[in-house]
Amino acid sequence: MFKEKIDIQRLPQHVSVIMDGNGRWAKQKGLLRAFGHEEGTKAVRDVVEGCAELGVKFLTLYAFSTENWNRPKREVDTLMRLLVNSLKKEIKTLTENNIKLNAIGNIDSLPKKAQKELKEVIDKTAGNERMVLTLALSYGSREELIHVVKDLCEKVKNEELSLDAIDESIINQHLYTQNLPDVDLLIRTSGEQRISNFLLWQIAYAELYFTNILWPDFRRENLYEAIYNYQTRERRFGKTSEQIS
Ligand code: FPP
Repeated sequence: MFKEKIDIQRLPQHVSVIMDGNGRWAKQKGLLRAFGHEEGTKAVRDVVEGCAELGVKFLTLYAFSTENWNRPKREVDTLMRLLVNSLKKEIKTLTENNIKLNAIGNIDSLPKKAQKELKEVIDKTAGNERMVLTLALSYGSREELIHVVKDLCEKVKNEELSLDAIDESIINQHLYTQNLPDVDLLIRTSGEQRISNFLLWQIAYAELYFTNILWPDFRRENLYEAIYNYQTRERRFGKTSEQIS
């Protein structure tokens, strides 16, 4: 049991997850990919509850990338339907657990129905304080950075901002993640070891954790293992080991 081994005083403040392997999970069982995504929602629920219970303050899930629009229309429709249904179903759990919902990405590109549902849950949970659950939807880190550059150029052009004032903090304030701290722990399931255009700026000092478990099989015990593993690492942020201790 990894839960008992976790030092609650040293939890990662911000955990983010690339939920990968839904398709392969379904294929292994001879099922359609849609079943994999559906099963993936169970893992989402378990990990959200697991993080909130432990005391993780920020959880960010990569639910749909800008590149995912290139999947067959049927699969995109399934993912959007699952999103709407999950939001409808989980608003009660979010409220009961005092969790605030947040979304990052090009939200305007989502179907109107999904936007409406999302807005409703975000508004209803706005006052919740235990944990912030952020869904990355139609999210791509490069798209986000282009959006930041355009915003900043516009402000410089209109003389609302001077060129010299641009620093890390100004960039942080213009990212979709403006209200979130840097990522401490990034988990990717399914054995792939890449970042796939997710939070490139925000993971500058994150610890990366890769597991072969496919997302639909991932449960809170696997989350505890990832957090325990994170706690065995020494985060030096560019300093020497001696400076840290
Ligand atoms: C990756 O598996 C997963 C996705 C593209 C979508 C993740 C979505 C969910 C878990 C369900 C909906 C989410 C919420 C928040 C309600 P893949 O299809 O790339 O799997 P593969 O690499 O095995 O093909």
